[in-house]
Amino acid sequence: MRQNPHHRLLGQTCIVTGANSGIGKEIALSMGRDCANVVVNYITDAAAAEEVANQIEASDAIAKAITFKADVSKEDQVQEMFKTAKQHFGTVDIMVNNAGMQRDAAFHEMTLQQWQQVLDVNLTGQFLCSREATREFLSRGKVDYSCALGKIICVSSVHEVIPWAGHANYAASKGGVMLLMKSMAQELGSKGIRVNSIAPGAIQTPINRDAWETPEALNELLKLIPYKRIGQPADIGAAAVWLATDESDYIHGTTLFIDGGMTLYPGFTTNG
Ligand code: BGC
Repeated sequence: MRQNPHHRLLGQTCIVTGANSGIGKEIALSMGRDCANVVVNYITDAAAAEEVANQIEASDAIAKAITFKADVSKEDQVQEMFKTAKQHFGTVDIMVNNAGMQRDAAFHEMTLQQWQQVLDVNLTGQFLCSREATREFLSRGKVDYSCALGKIICVSSVHEVIPWAGHANYAASKGGVMLLMKSMAQELGSKGIRVNSIAPGAIQTPINRDAWETPEALNELLKLIPYKRIGQPADIGAAAVWLATDESDYIHGTTLFIDGGMTLYPGFTTNG
């Protein structure tokens, strides 16, 4: 029998990194709406993270939420986050590696710091959180409320396949996420751990404000999107929840592109 769509994650616990704003915030709220307990990770803006946690617990919701400040690129901080999650909720069932950043620069001007920071957060952060999640899944063992031993969802980008001038650090980090996800999926599938990525296109959030803030910028952006609208965080939130439920139990090692067709080489619509 199909589960109540709003109770699909009842009794499960989810960590969402970078959940104080943008896509991460919407994923956290969506997980909460489907009754998962949520650890709202953040590194800046504690008040915004609190607000997300409050919203999850508001209006007689079943889900509980806590906030936790941790830099995902720091091993000790990630381990503390898992310790706290387990103290509050017993275990972790769903790891959403969302935290990410851009430090854009022309290639010849890119500093080592800009390169390193983006790789540290976007790629090493996903490694550290996934490794900690895997350790918890394996030591906790099977549960009766989910087919999988645990679920890992990597938030990648269309730039795991689309090269991006002026953003070599970002594109390299997301290309890395693609093979990190697939390698984890290949290695961990036999243990019952389900690993997938979501690759958002242009989603209207603070990270890409320049691309949608003015009508001219938005018009340029829409030339890259065959479906002719900018994405919304809810487009990603709904998919992330679904990827965490048993409805998607046979989906493993896949990147789900949610991009309005941005990866369809839109330049070829009228050319080539
Ligand atoms: C980037 C955004 C960009 C989008 C499409 C995302 O991964 O963070 O800044 O608008 O890709 O290019």
